[in-house]
Amino acid sequence: MSTWTPDSWRTKPILQVPTYPSQTELEAVEARLASFPPLVFAGEARDLKANLAEVAKGKAFLLQGGDCAESFAEHHADHIRDFFRVFLQMAVVLTHGGSKPVVKVGRIAGQFAKPRSADTEIIDGVSLPSYRGDIINGIEFTEESRVPDPNRQLEAYRQSAATLNLLRAFSAGGFANLNRVHEWTMGFVKDSNWYPRYEEVARKIDDAITFLGALGLNPENTPVLRETKFFTSHEALLLGYEEALTRRDSITNDWYATSGHMVWIGDRTRNPDHAHVEYFRGINNPIGLKCGPSLQADDLKRLMETLNPKDEAGRLTLIARFGSDKIAEHLPRLIETVKAEGRTVVWCCDPMHGNVVKASSGYKTRPFERILSEVKSFFDIHRDMGTVAGGVHVEMTGRDVTECTGGVSAVTEASLSDRYHTHCDPRLNASQALELAFLIAEEMQNQRMGGDAARAAG
Ligand code: PEP
Ligand code: CO
Repeated sequence: MSTWTPDSWRTKPILQVPTYPSQTELEAVEARLASFPPLVFAGEARDLKANLAEVAKGKAFLLQGGDCAESFAEHHADHIRDFFRVFLQMAVVLTHGGSKPVVKVGRIAGQFAKPRSADTEIIDGVSLPSYRGDIINGIEFTEESRVPDPNRQLEAYRQSAATLNLLRAFSAGGFANLNRVHEWTMGFVKDSNWYPRYEEVARKIDDAITFLGALGLNPENTPVLRETKFFTSHEALLLGYEEALTRRDSITNDWYATSGHMVWIGDRTRNPDHAHVEYFRGINNPIGLKCGPSLQADDLKRLMETLNPKDEAGRLTLIARFGSDKIAEHLPRLIETVKAEGRTVVWCCDPMHGNVVKASSGYKTRPFERILSEVKSFFDIHRDMGTVAGGVHVEMTGRDVTECTGGVSAVTEASLSDRYHTHCDPRLNASQALELAFLIAEEMQNQRMGGDAARAAG
């Protein structure tokens, strides 16, 4: 294989790239970015990789989630706090249900570039270039706003740094203290049917903390009770931006993407001969690969060989996103491929991207039942095949939006227009996200019981 450099992707065919009006302006922005400090450190990415190696063995569970697309206009502390709060609630429910650690990875602090199915968007007969995420162009449907502007990359860097700073403060500064498990619940979730069940889990955690306290372990002397590890991730789609933030680790001399702890390759850009795969093969972060229905065994084999030649555990997470009606056809055949190759991967379920439907009102939505059904099939298939259902990847927000239909919050097609705020795909609201966590926790409990029962019988 040819020598890898942070810019070797530039010699390969590439999809989903914007055409900037001025190459000189673009290069000036990339040079500035290259002079800025890294957003994350290589040691943190290695730590996440080690945590994901535990997920691959079935000893931990991966929770990955956040906005489909972060936006400049909605960059508020309250939104970040509300997201983090419901994410922690989900993690507590999953830790309790699965009796194993939950590896927390936000889809945040860098999730700005969006792959699009069509290059143009047509409204009322007017055709304009598609919106490609705030790091590239504006969402307003005007000619001016849709022109790619490289300066947006500087704004994305600034916003990522500020978001990450707040998340680090929340993780280690007391917000995530398990003593506060009751306080993470926000107003409208309190009205949901799930609230009493959450309170029950919270009460059990209180009891456990009281018991530990009697043994002399408390949040003051035991960091794991007062802080949490939280990692960031995004789709590394805009490779010029990623290249500018690709740095050599001073300890190992290895290259790392420093725009986030984990980065993934989208379903539309995973051609083994193309630029995105070339970029990813040289960075040492844990990486994800979206696997949709069109992924064939031969390509998956090549991708595993190129992206993880030494079969390092925790390096590669396969994010399955087939759709509730297609998962039974595609996941088993890809699991067989991984097994036949003797490879180590984390299997993660993205129940969002294969389940988009258009409501009669024209809104893009995702029915909650389909999301649940895909997650359930994911667990069933792994149980039947003796492999590990490692985690979930969801698009969610801490806010009370009406973007996905269904769930106990009972968003209907008619109510979609009430609070439909997403910059791209429909997200679970906080109540739906928590409901999903409870249902996954139930699956995990069933599997544990099933395993225990099987062991007892054997
Ligand atoms: C996404 O995660 O927002 C996305 C575009 O996913 P995929 O590449 O799986 O379509
Ligand atoms: Co999306």
